[in-house]
Amino acid sequence: MNAATEKLLVSSAPITAIDQRYSGLAESSCCLSCGGAADRALAQPGEIAVDIGSGRGQDVIRLAESVGPNGRVYGLDASQGMLDKARRTAEKLGVANVEFRRCELERLDLPDATADLVISNCTLNHATDKDAAWNEIYRIIKPGGRFVVSDIYALTEVPAEYRTNPEAVAECWAGAIERGPYLETLNRCGFADIQILEESAPYKKGAINVASFTVAAKKPGVCCCCG
Ligand SMILES: C[S@@+](CC[C@H](N)C(=O)[O-])C[C@H]1O[C@@H](n2cnc3c(N)ncnc32)[C@H](O)[C@@H]1O
Repeated sequence: MNAATEKLLVSSAPITAIDQRYSGLAESSCCLSCGGAADRALAQPGEIAVDIGSGRGQDVIRLAESVGPNGRVYGLDASQGMLDKARRTAEKLGVANVEFRRCELERLDLPDATADLVISNCTLNHATDKDAAWNEIYRIIKPGGRFVVSDIYALTEVPAEYRTNPEAVAECWAGAIERGPYLETLNRCGFADIQILEESAPYKKGAINVASFTVAAKKPGVCCCCG
């Protein structure tokens, strides 16, 4: 994708705040993750994997090693600074089976049924429209494929004045929803075998209490014996 197209995809106030915050963090070494999605995903040789909100690209590069030369890993992110950093690192390390694309969570820049595996770490909480973001994940996973996602959920509903504050959303807490509605969203979007692989104790973030978890599920496969 060329630079002009990359620019076109970034239009809204929340995305501008996200781009500013995360592009500013691209060269820092602060931890932006909230769980072990990449490790728990157990990516296999030959698989097509996608990391949504790939940040500096470290998980994409690790998955690239697991899927090997016959596999491929896409890193998707809205922040230009993060994408630039990730591409530079991949190039420096000579990792060839990766590609980074700029897009928003609600409009993933990949065709239907691309991925055997989707991972994401501490990103889905930023989505303005959670159903749209998870429907996009469902769309890009192959039938029978899976996701493993680490994310933050809110212990109590985020007060309305923060929910629409782009900076607070960009800080990974004001966009968070509660655990029950989170799992209901996955169910509503069609995922099966939903499992919690790890979960933290509650902790304070911004103006609320949150917790982190790593959740996995499958997109049902094509049924060959239902007739
Ligand atoms: C907390 S960081 C996590 C980065 C990486 N996954 C990690 O674990 O280090 C969130 C990432 O998601 C990206 N992001 C946030 N909101 C987004 C959105 N609405 N669309 C696309 N990317 C988004 C940010 O640019 C940032 O790189």
